[in-house]
Amino acid sequence: MDPKRWRLDGQLALVTGGSAGIGRAIARELLGFGADVLLAARDVAALDAVRAELMEDFPDRDVQAFVADVADDEQRRELLDWVEDFGEGLHILVNNAGGNLTKAATDYTEDEWRQVFEVNVFSAFELSRYAHPLLTRHAASSIVNVGSVSGATHVRTGAPYGMSKAAMHQMTRNLAVEWAEDGVRVNAVAPWYIRTRRTSDKLADPDYLDEVLLRTPLGRIGEPEEVAAAVAFLCLPASAYITGECIAVDGGFLRYGF
Ligand SMILES: NC(=O)c1ccc[n+]([C@@H]2O[C@H](COP(=O)([O-])OP(=O)(O)OC[C@H]3O[C@@H](n4cnc5c(N)ncnc54)[C@H](OP(=O)(O)O)[C@@H]3O)[C@@H](O)[C@H]2O)c1
Repeated sequence: MDPKRWRLDGQLALVTGGSAGIGRAIARELLGFGADVLLAARDVAALDAVRAELMEDFPDRDVQAFVADVADDEQRRELLDWVEDFGEGLHILVNNAGGNLTKAATDYTEDEWRQVFEVNVFSAFELSRYAHPLLTRHAASSIVNVGSVSGATHVRTGAPYGMSKAAMHQMTRNLAVEWAEDGVRVNAVAPWYIRTRRTSDKLADPDYLDEVLLRTPLGRIGEPEEVAAAVAFLCLPASAYITGECIAVDGGFLRYGF
């Protein structure tokens, strides 16, 4: 077995939403496999804190951070200009930043539901397109999109979030086929409940938590590191023949009928 198949040494990765939750765990996992990591998020203090934490834990790796709102096209372009300035192209793009506003379908204003699409799927599409010339500077590169089980079935998130994640899953399949000849693999992960700040309020309600666990064959909430492991696998040379796939990281949730 060639150990390089399970390493990312010398690779540069951009992780959006890398300052918290699943994104922070992804950054940590990629660093552990030997990649250098660029983080992007809106809150500068959180970004600086995570960058400092990661630099302390991985002193041999490079970690840089950039303040950007991925829902804003000008800031998306500035982010990719910043990445280009490193002069190394890009090996890995993880479209992880996302957001939601849960309402009944009839209660959304047009601006509200369009914003859910902007942050979850238009951002990922544009960042992927802007990153394409950097990714194709290398013989093999990877995009991983952080989707959701809500893109496959109803999970009380509100319709726009599920619609946007479903679009993200289909974008993954389309770009995988279109960019295969360019050496860019495109895959996704679809998490169910993962313990992050986004979910902590809901999961603090014991009745709600019971309901969630009853629908989860593995009988527990997932950890950010468990999503990060799937993302890292999809970036590794070991997964070089996998593209256009979406791996559910869901404790069996999507497979649980009756
Ligand atoms: N947690 C779950 O159970 C779960 C389940 C399925 C899917 N997901 C997906 O997983 C991804 C990460 O979720 P999470 O639970 O880790 O959330 P989180 O803990 O709230 O972290 C979100 C990260 O994204 C950044 N972010 C949010 N909006 C952004 C924007 N417009 N521009 C740039 N950065 C932005 C945040 O930083 P700033 O706020 O400072 O920008 C933060 O770094 C999302 O796409 C979410 O839909 C999560």
